[in-house]
Amino acid sequence: MPRIITLTLNPAIDKSTTVPGLLAEHKMRCTPPKFEPGGGGINVTRALRKLGGESTAFYLAGGYSGQFFTELLQREGVNAQPLPIAQPTRENLIVVDTATNQQYRFGMDGPQVSEPEWQHALDVLSQQTAVDFLVGSGSLPPGVPTDFYGKLANVAQIIGAKLILDTSGEALRQAVGKGVYLLKPNLRELSALAGVEELELDEIDDAALEIIRRGDSQIIVVSLGAQGALLVSEDVVEHVKALTVKKRSTVGAGDSMVAGMTLALSWGWPLPDVVRYGVACGTAATMNAGTELCRPQDVERLFRKV
Ligand SMILES: Nc1ncnc2c1ncn2[C@@H]1O[C@H](COP(=O)(O)OP(=O)(O)OP(=O)(O)O)[C@@H](O)[C@H]1O
Ligand SMILES: [Mg+2]
Repeated sequence: MPRIITLTLNPAIDKSTTVPGLLAEHKMRCTPPKFEPGGGGINVTRALRKLGGESTAFYLAGGYSGQFFTELLQREGVNAQPLPIAQPTRENLIVVDTATNQQYRFGMDGPQVSEPEWQHALDVLSQQTAVDFLVGSGSLPPGVPTDFYGKLANVAQIIGAKLILDTSGEALRQAVGKGVYLLKPNLRELSALAGVEELELDEIDDAALEIIRRGDSQIIVVSLGAQGALLVSEDVVEHVKALTVKKRSTVGAGDSMVAGMTLALSWGWPLPDVVRYGVACGTAATMNAGTELCRPQDVERLFRKV
């Protein structure tokens, strides 16, 4: 079985609750909170597991919240590899106002991470053996340099793993140029990378090909929300359309898509099928409320049709 590792530098405990009306200056009674471990790579590992795949989640964790985070992961049966940091793991708050059915998402900045701490993460990963795929996903917490994913690309090369990357902004901009295997930007992220406000649909393939020809990534899968995804490599350009489903929440769509593509790559599938499977996983995630990731039965049904 090919070995898959995910890395999450800025994980979070997602704490969800509901209130019957969000009011300022009042003490509001919340329903018992639900706790979930979240963050880019963590979600990829959890979605992979739901799809029947195995991976190990490496993540920075600190304080009591970090211990609780690990406990939440272990309850799900995830292979958890915390990388210790001094400051506490962040907690996000998600509140649904049941009077209006509106969701409020309060995101916290991550903990301050020191150089020895993020360097240790790279050292631990560079000692891993027989890793086939390394998935780097999510934002970088304060203190981690914006070229971190570029450094991770070097580690991937040293250990002979294929790097799959899903991030945004400066972290994404500084990662390319170091040899990524597969990049999964959405349209906004690719546009920013190309240095334009928003690429037109017919400009996407050229923008992606330019990155590929520079040798910055071998494959680019541009996710296009309800419009599916565009696969671009040196030899294929293919638009995979997403099916129309009853959308509940798009949270976790990108992570479910990355999980599906990583799994299909580990099965040795051809690229167009890899992307079709990823699109099915992304769409399946939108059928579930809240932060719930894709369900395998939905993925199978959608995959037969995409
Ligand atoms: N409204 C939708 N209908 C059908 N499929 C969708 C919809 N939104 C997203 N998807 C599926 O999920 C995939 C990833 O979604 P999207 O392009 O929104 O990623 P993203 O912007 O990275 O998402 P995230 O906010 O999770 O990071 C799409 O390629 C598509 O397959
Ligand atoms: Mg995304």
